[in-house]
Amino acid sequence: LLLIFTSVVCTILAKNHTDSDKLILGQFPDEFAFGVATSAYQVEGAWNEDGKGKSIWDVFSHTPGKTVNGETGDVSIDQYHKYKEDIQNIKWLGVTHYRFSIAWTRLLPDGTTNNVSQKGIDHYNDVINELLKYNITPFVTLYHWDLPQGLQDHGGWASDTVIQHFANYADLCFKSFGDRVKNWITFNEPFITSWMGHENGEMAPGIKDSAVMYKVAHNLIRSHVEAYYLYNKTYKHVQKGQVGITLDSEWKEPVTDSERNQAAAQRALTFRIGWFADPLIFGDYPDLMKVMIALKSNAQGRTTSKLPQFTQTEITRNKGTVDFFGINHYSTNIVEHQNIDNTINGFFNEQNVKKCGVLNPICSKYVMFRNYAWGLRKLMNYMKKTYGHINIYVTENGLAECGTTWDQQRIDYIKYYTNNLLEAINDGCPIKGYFLWSYSDSYEWNSGYGVKMGLFYVDFTQPELPRFPKASAYFYQKLCKAKGFTQ
Ligand code: NOJ
Repeated sequence: LLLIFTSVVCTILAKNHTDSDKLILGQFPDEFAFGVATSAYQVEGAWNEDGKGKSIWDVFSHTPGKTVNGETGDVSIDQYHKYKEDIQNIKWLGVTHYRFSIAWTRLLPDGTTNNVSQKGIDHYNDVINELLKYNITPFVTLYHWDLPQGLQDHGGWASDTVIQHFANYADLCFKSFGDRVKNWITFNEPFITSWMGHENGEMAPGIKDSAVMYKVAHNLIRSHVEAYYLYNKTYKHVQKGQVGITLDSEWKEPVTDSERNQAAAQRALTFRIGWFADPLIFGDYPDLMKVMIALKSNAQGRTTSKLPQFTQTEITRNKGTVDFFGINHYSTNIVEHQNIDNTINGFFNEQNVKKCGVLNPICSKYVMFRNYAWGLRKLMNYMKKTYGHINIYVTENGLAECGTTWDQQRIDYIKYYTNNLLEAINDGCPIKGYFLWSYSDSYEWNSGYGVKMGLFYVDFTQPELPRFPKASAYFYQKLCKAKGFTQ
């Protein structure tokens, strides 16, 4: 019943917002980046080869009951060995950029600089050089969820010692690859690492403790800030690159424009984006979070808030520590006010949110439709209004479904989302690039391989793991070539 209600509300809202068949014509700027994105654990495989250490995802996915059908990233699409073939495909798409992540455990098997793996460094040198050979610009994520298990054993992101370890790892990456890599993302979706990794426990390391969640987020922010200063001080003047962070959010649309619903939508955005963006731009957490988390912690009988505090020195140092924001965006949520007293444990804000889309029973995933593409335009405008003129790259956007190569839904999705992005550029938002998630089908974390998000279909039943372009790959190729909408 709830599902039916939700989809009725979502349909009405979608209709009200846009004539969903209308596309605007126009071009993206010449220097606009079109790319595809992946992450190491999701595509590399070779989980224990060439001296690679174990990450928290190796451990989590090997723990019975944690992932659908017990599926792991042990082999995945084997990009570790097949990177040349993949780069050929990426070249064929006609994109100018490839976003991928480095596996910390390939360079530093136990997470620390006690042991540096030359084989790991060689591998990423090979990947980067191969990309450059074909004029594809690397966009590199340092941390896409695969913390070395060796560091998890010492408290992981909840322990203050992790900050220096991350800085050392970032230093090694800047030093080894920064002559050729000019675009660095420190963290991918720190919200998900904090919340799903440490509060709802559905992702590695599978901890369920809201106080730990806030502490983890705090240390992710501090680690980002350290890496940012390290780059600025030691590398930037020579390497001339940029360092940003990738945040994620749906657009949060109030179900009606009543004051209560609008406030609820704002709360949802604050807890999702403001949690990380406010400290990095303004120095400190949003007041709304400070007040609400203190109240809630109090109600739970704690004498101190679960939200840690930045020192005055940190507040000053945090300010303005992003060269750009990466934004991962997939869909819109419809938000309705709920009495926060009704919520019991944890992260109440997400409970105000109803998902728009349809639950696909085969892969139990919400399939999002193009109908909500206007949410991307609104989110871009929200970023500009809230944080000013900071460059934005959409570092992920894409459709999850369960099919094979005939993916008309994905074509529609890409078309309408990129068209709304063009509208946001016309609105004056400083958007510099768009990365489709994902280059190919791959390991969708705890959902395993049933969820398909790629432009390339991978036949997992064959040992060679052959890749086949889907209909959407041809469409994206055309879009990248035209760099806009001409008809
Ligand atoms: C965000 C994550 O960064 C990525 O790893 C994941 O596969 C996609 N969302 C799709 O769920």
